[in-house]
Amino acid sequence: MILVAATVVGAKTPLFVPPTLTGPVYDLTMQNGTMEFTPGVVTPTAGYNGDFLGPTLIMHKGDDVVMNVTNELGEITTNHWHGMHVSPEDDGGPHTTIAPGATWSPAFTVLDDAATMWYHPHLHHLTNKHVTKGLSGMILVRDEVEAAAGLPQTYGVDEFPIFLQDRNINFDGQFIVDELGSTMLVNGAVDPYLEVPAQMVRLRVLNASSARGYNVGLSNGAPLHLVGTDGGLRETPLAGSRFLVTPGERIDVVIDLRDAQGTTLNLVAFNSELEGIDIAGSANGPGGGNPLNGLDLPLVELRVVASTAGAVTSLPDSINVLARPIAAQATRTRTIRMTGAPPSPFLLDDTPFDHGVVNQTVHLNAVEIWEIRNDTSYAHPFHIHDVQFFVLDIDGEPPPPELTGKKDTILVRRRSTVRFIAVFDDHANDDVPYMYHCHILTHEDDGMMGQFVVTGAKD
Ligand code: C2O
Ligand code: CU
Repeated sequence: MILVAATVVGAKTPLFVPPTLTGPVYDLTMQNGTMEFTPGVVTPTAGYNGDFLGPTLIMHKGDDVVMNVTNELGEITTNHWHGMHVSPEDDGGPHTTIAPGATWSPAFTVLDDAATMWYHPHLHHLTNKHVTKGLSGMILVRDEVEAAAGLPQTYGVDEFPIFLQDRNINFDGQFIVDELGSTMLVNGAVDPYLEVPAQMVRLRVLNASSARGYNVGLSNGAPLHLVGTDGGLRETPLAGSRFLVTPGERIDVVIDLRDAQGTTLNLVAFNSELEGIDIAGSANGPGGGNPLNGLDLPLVELRVVASTAGAVTSLPDSINVLARPIAAQATRTRTIRMTGAPPSPFLLDDTPFDHGVVNQTVHLNAVEIWEIRNDTSYAHPFHIHDVQFFVLDIDGEPPPPELTGKKDTILVRRRSTVRFIAVFDDHANDDVPYMYHCHILTHEDDGMMGQFVVTGAKD
């Protein structure tokens, strides 16, 4: 295991900002490639239309889009639109495989509000391998509410995608597909810098790691202004010095750099394994032997340059109006238990994922409360396909303000219970299920996943 990242002095590389693709037809080719994360050390990778990661797909609510996903990986895979409200046959879960050389072409209407979504493979047992190799990309859905709010949205100028991924890279450059890496990659770069203008700048931060959580903030202690959560814009901005982003989650934050021209600051994150294993006291000694654990690691150096013409110079007081279903509307509460203890795999309801078993049947248009009970001694980010939900409570208490927006992934801490509410509208199909699972990719691959169908049939 080689240690890179913060130890290489003066070797900063410019942050890679993935190019955009606009619709209505999006051509994505999953292909093998190589990268040199450390100069001279070649790592076999995979990406969409490139060597690592994929283009940022810009979509608008209401668009009719066609996605042409071609698999040139030389092995079977799938491609899932994480967070998007699409039909189960277009969702790209484990059932919707793309054979080597084949092109999968779902076509759908973008029903989502403005949000930070993403895409990645979802083949059972191999999701971690494929995502680790580099297969993930961002989707920015735009709408009129976002435009009217006056948020920064000039991609690559005052709005940037930030992919947080730790990786294990072998001495010969190979990725080791594992839970925790010792090399921090941001948009596929080790120790990058980014020039940002002295104005309001928006960062779309995605945790595309297998298992690590990041508590993200700024090195100078200035606040991040949270304007959106996983699946949509918040009602109002929320200032905070740190926001925790666990695997699968996104934060949409604005930073105020109006008075910062000529200065340099860092986007930083306190890194940790999700609770479960005590960092200082774990078996391998402090940090569990992993050099990133317990560090407030610089992620991207932000070099503040002159502002641009038409710069956004203020934050809106109000952004969005959210239609929240209330608990009294729910027709049913479903309880899902997180179970298991190493060396046995973590599971949902003690049941390993089985392609042939539908674990839950939900009625079209139902309003449901899902109660996720974590009976394990490890924290797990729970993700559900098809819907965005609102957290009702965590261990009986109202959620903290950063978790009151639209969510599709929520950390359920050890021995804790999260209840959320969602409306299962628009898409019914008795034959193709949607997934719900832990977004720690090793847990998901080991079977910590279940499936539900939305049925349109009447009782
Ligand atoms: Cu990001 Cu079911 O996945
Ligand atoms: Cu898990």
